[in-house]
Amino acid sequence: MTDVPDGGCAAAADARVLLIRHGDEILAFENRCLHKDTPLHEGHLTDAILACPLHHWRYELPSGRLVGHSVGLPRVPIQTDGGRIRVIPPEEPPASISALLRDHARTWSRTDNSSRDTSAGPYGVASSSSAEETSP
Ligand code: FES
Repeated sequence: MTDVPDGGCAAAADARVLLIRHGDEILAFENRCLHKDTPLHEGHLTDAILACPLHHWRYELPSGRLVGHSVGLPRVPIQTDGGRIRVIPPEEPPASISALLRDHARTWSRTDNSSRDTSAGPYGVASSSSAEETSP
């Protein structure tokens, strides 16, 4: 059994679930920062913003959305019965943004890049023996 302090958060279900008391409501999310999977129950909660304890990514409440982005913390279903909460923990945690980017980079590096144009802009290149400034 877990107590959720007023205006605070707590971990439940072997720390896989983040519970937040937000006003009269209990919110439940997966307890993993979207950045590097850091548990968020030790984050800083102020004015309906939860900040990750590691690199301070910020999540809006009650949505759990990453501030300034359309992605957010996955919700975890709960059932309330009087003063008790029953948490239904996630079975398979989704990948963090870091893991998704790593997978994307692996896929990208396996594709045929031989015809990809990697030049950018109308910039001249100066050799070290005849350095001169160029303008676009
Ligand atoms: S792990 Fe949460 S912001 Fe980096």
